[in-house]
Amino acid sequence: MTDSETRRLGPDAKGVAEAAAILRGGGLVAFPTETVYGLGADAGNGRAVAGIYAAKGRPSFNPLIVHVEGAEAAGWLAEVTDKAADLMAAFWPGPLTLVLTAREGTGLSPLVQAGLPTVALRAPAHPLARELLREAGRPLAAPSANPSGRVSPTTADHVLAGLAGRIDAVLDGGACPVGVESTILALDGPPRLLRAGGLPVEALEAALGERIGVDTSPERVAAPGQMASHYAPRGSMRLNVREPEPGEVMLGFGDVPGQLTLSATGDLQEAAANLFGCLHALDAMGAERIAVAPVPDRGLGRAINDRLRRAAAPRG
Ligand code: TXA
Ligand code: MG
Repeated sequence: MTDSETRRLGPDAKGVAEAAAILRGGGLVAFPTETVYGLGADAGNGRAVAGIYAAKGRPSFNPLIVHVEGAEAAGWLAEVTDKAADLMAAFWPGPLTLVLTAREGTGLSPLVQAGLPTVALRAPAHPLARELLREAGRPLAAPSANPSGRVSPTTADHVLAGLAGRIDAVLDGGACPVGVESTILALDGPPRLLRAGGLPVEALEAALGERIGVDTSPERVAAPGQMASHYAPRGSMRLNVREPEPGEVMLGFGDVPGQLTLSATGDLQEAAANLFGCLHALDAMGAERIAVAPVPDRGLGRAINDRLRRAAAPRG
C-alpha cells in the first residue's frame, strides 16, 4: 500500500458509512474520539486486530481498549459490578476506560486481551465515534492511532503523518476536544488507577466515595503499554523549567512564556487539548532540546504531567 492509498473520509453520513463498511470488511480505520484518534478494527476479527499491531509497529501484544456504545454492550463482554455500573451511568459516554473481568465466549479476538482475564472497555463521547460504533454494529478495538512509542494523534493530519500507507482510512473529525487519553481504572478488584487521563481522578473518587489507589507495582501486567518512554517527541525534554537554557525551545504554561505555550492563561483543560499538538509541532520544528514550564499536578494536570514525564524519560 502506498501513502496515498490511505483515504481521508469526511465527517458526514457518507464518510461514516464508508468507514463502517471498511471495518466490517476487516480493514483498519482511524477515527476521532473526544480524547485522541483511535486506530479501529473489528474486535472480533483476529486478522484485523493483528493488523493494528502491525500498522503501529507495536513490539509486543499489549491488550487493547474495546470501544462500545454503552453499558448494555459492555455487559455482553464483561462482568459489570455495581461500582462499574455506577461509573458508567455517571461518566459514559466519556474519557473513562474500565478494566473488568471478561466474560467467556464473547467472540472477542484473544489478541484484544493479550492473554489477560480482564478486558478494557470504553464508550467514547465523540459524535462521530458513536455514529461509527452504531453503523459498524460491533465492538471496535482501538489503541491510539500513532506508531508505537510516538506522540498520540489529536488531528487527522497527525494520524496520516504517522500511519499513511499502513491503514485503510482516517475519518477526519478535526481536533480532539479533550486531547489526552482516557483515564483507566481497574475494577476487577479494589479500584486501582492504571492511567491518569481525561477524566480527573478526583471526579472518580467523588463518585465512588472512596480514595483510589495508584497501581505502581513494576511487575504489574496492568497497562503494560505504560512503559517509561512513551509519547515521545524526537527532541530531548527537561521539565519544570522557568528559565530555558540557550538553545532550548521553551514550551510555556501560564505565566511562564515560550515559543509555544500549552495555555497562556494557565487553563488545564486548554493545556490538555493542546499538549500533543504542541509535541507534534516541536517535532515539525525540528526542536532538539525542549524545556517545559511547570504544570500543577491536580485535575487534568495529573494526566498532563504523566505524559510529560514519559516524553522526558530516557529513550529505551
Ligand atoms: O483515550 C483512549 O483511551 C484512547 C482512545 C483511542 O480511546 N486509546 C488509547 O489506547 O489510549 P492505547 O492502546 O494507546 O492505551 C491503552 C492502554 C494500554 O496501556 C494498555 O496496556 C491498557 O490500556 N490496557 C488495555 N487492556 C488492558 C487490560 N485488560 N488490563 C490492563 N491494562 C489494559
Ligand atoms: Mg497509546
